[in-house]
Formats: sequence, structure tokens, C-alpha cells
Amino acid sequence: MLTPFTRKLGMDVPIFAFSHCRDVIAAVTKAGGFGVLGASTFSPEQLEVELAWIDAHVGGRPYGVDVIIPVKYDAEAEAEFGKTDLHDLIPDEHKAFMERILADEGVPQLPDEERARIAQEIAVGRGAMTPDGARRLLAVVLRHPLVRVVVSALGAPPPDVVKQLRAADITIGALCGKAKHAVRHQAAGVDFIVAQGTEAGGHTGDISTLVLVPQVIDAVGGAVPVIAAGGFARGSQIAAALALGAQGVWCGTIWLGTEESELNAFEKAAYFAADTDDAVRRRCRTGKTVRMLRSKLSEAWEAPDAPAYLDPPLQGILFNEMTARVVRAERRDLYSFPAGQIVGVMTGETTVKQVMYDMQVELVETLERLSKIDLGGE
Ligand SMILES: Cc1cc2nc3c(=O)[nH]c(=O)nc-3n(C[C@H](O)[C@H](O)[C@H](O)COP(=O)(O)O)c2cc1C
Repeated sequence: MLTPFTRKLGMDVPIFAFSHCRDVIAAVTKAGGFGVLGASTFSPEQLEVELAWIDAHVGGRPYGVDVIIPVKYDAEAEAEFGKTDLHDLIPDEHKAFMERILADEGVPQLPDEERARIAQEIAVGRGAMTPDGARRLLAVVLRHPLVRVVVSALGAPPPDVVKQLRAADITIGALCGKAKHAVRHQAAGVDFIVAQGTEAGGHTGDISTLVLVPQVIDAVGGAVPVIAAGGFARGSQIAAALALGAQGVWCGTIWLGTEESELNAFEKAAYFAADTDDAVRRRCRTGKTVRMLRSKLSEAWEAPDAPAYLDPPLQGILFNEMTARVVRAERRDLYSFPAGQIVGVMTGETTVKQVMYDMQVELVETLERLSKIDLGGE
């Protein structure tokens, strides 16, 4: 069940798993897929701990890391990192708007120590998303020889990063939501492209996976392998991706409902209760369009009296702190976390192993069914 590119990566099944959770990465990789750890919110020290843990739990198999590498070097922002209290940059109008929603809903404030911990996490996350911060994470990655793939989450990787990863014989990937982005990635020298359709959880564009994947394959002229992302939760869908010419699938949302996922029971229950049309695209989480669970909080930002969205990272800082309050208060009606449209088929907790098994069984069944289609003629 392998395509040339997935065979080259040493996989047994053409399934990539994006997750921020090391347990998911290890479990998918051990089950024959390829786990890619979302690293952008970690400090270099935390990333070292995560990668050391994965190294010890992955049975010697290769895995990957996904990093946001800003292309533009903002020297001023870099110099200010750690010095500025970003809360001071959030307009009072925006803080008051959020406070009013949660106060009207009776959601308590966080205890001081929890608030301080979250502020620290946010500062660390911001540090990793500067050009130097991303390079500090990559320096950690290069100390872990089992990391054989690095993926750029937003935009093409800059030339010095490509050169450094190439020298370490690391396979380089990049996500795209439009064919023209894929062409840019190809020119930057990536080894593969993840074509992510609008169905996906997280930052996502307008074009559906079914339309995007063949467009991207045509745009790169078959020279670069393309992996399909957005909306994959079962084997028949993987067969469809392979039929489109993709060399594998890249899944994110489905792992959130597994035992291995770090989400707590309240958060998982919110996913299991959601229907497909509850996964909506909104800008309130980061300032850019994210597909996420609809809630009273997400909809309040769509109302005519809502303030304008802030640019990243300020909107995200405001929203993350409020999300922590919502989770602590276990208020499902206010909970909005990234989710793809396949959230509608997630109905109860499962395991990574079960997801991988079910996908493979249905993939084989689908391919058998297709092989029996009457092509006509003699
Ligand atoms: C909770 C969550 C967080 C995500 N964060 C990132 C990220 O930091 N970097 C990235 O490249 N993609 C991120 N994504 C997108 C995934 O890489 C992937 O493309 C997407 O989940 C695939 O579609 P699916 O959700 O339908 O499986 C995220 C997705 C989810 C669900």
C-alpha cells in the first residue's frame, strides 16, 4: 500500500499525522505512518524534551517536525522579543469586548498562577514564531537524527534553511492552499508539498481538497510529490486521494479524539458532540482564517458590534487566554478550538492504532471494489 515517496520515507502506510502531541506522533509512526510534530509553540528547551521522548518511543523509526518559519526578518520585533508585554499592545476595546462576553456568561477569571503560566506559554510561542526563533527550533531538530522530515507550515522555507536541512539530508515539505503557493515552494527547493483543502482544521484557504490536489499536481508538473490534506478520516477518502494522484494523505483533526491526544475529557467531548457544519472558518482565533468549532465566542466576533480583528499574534494572545478560561469552566457553548469538517464523524474516544487499522481496512476494501468496476468493452 505504498507510493514511491512514502516508500522512500520508510513508511508502511501512506498516512501522515500532524499533531502537537508527542504520544500521537510516536503511536502513528510505530503503526507504520509518519508522525509530524507541530513545534511552533514550543521553546527550544521544551522541543528538546519532546524530541528526546519521541526518539525513545518510536522504535527507531523516522518522524518529522512542522515549524512556522516567517520569511520576513523583522529585526525590531526580534529585538523586542521578551521585553514587551504584548498585552499592552492589545487595544482596550478588544480586551473589554472579550471580558464582557465571558462576564455576561458567568465564566470566572483564571487563578493568578494559571494566568501567569499561560502568559509565559504565549511569550514562548511568540518567540518560536520569529525568524530567529524558528532557527533556534531547527538547531534542536538537527540534534535528533530520527527527524528525517521538516515541514514549513506557512510559506516557502527561506534559502539558508533549505541549505542547512539539505546538508543534514532532511526531506523538506511545505503546506499550500493554492496552486501558486506550490509553485513558489517548488522554486524554493522543497522535496514535497502538502496540498491542504478548505475542509482542514487550522489555518485554511477557500479551495476544497478535491479541486486543489489535481491543480497542485499539475502546477508542479509531477516533479514534486504531493500529499493531500483536509478531510481525511477513512480509507475510501485515502483511495480518492491516491486516485487524484496524491502520494499519501496528511491528517490532523482525527487524532484529537484519540486516547493519545493531549486534549482533556471536556475538550474531546466537544469534538464528539460537533457536526460537520459546526467546523466553521473564522478569524477570531488568530486574526487569520482558521477552521474551528463554532461557539458563542466565535459567533460574537462575527456580530456587527464586534471590534475589527487584530493582526497576529495579538488576536491569538487575546483568544488563547479566553479559551483557557472557557476550558477551566468546562463551557462547551463557548469552546472554539481548530477542527476540520471530519469532526462530524468523530463520535467517541478511540486509539491511534484503531484509526490506522480502520483506515487501512477500508482502503483495501475500496481498492477491491474499484477493481471490480465494469469498464465495458469485451
Ligand atoms: C488543532 C490543529 C492545529 C493545527 N496546527 C497546525 C500548525 O501549527 N502547523 C501546520 O502546518 N498545520 C496545522 N494544522 C493543520 C494540519 O497540519 C492539517 O493540514 C489539517 O489538520 C488537515 O486537515 P484535517 O484537519 O481535515 O485532518 C492544525 C490542525 C489542527 C486540527
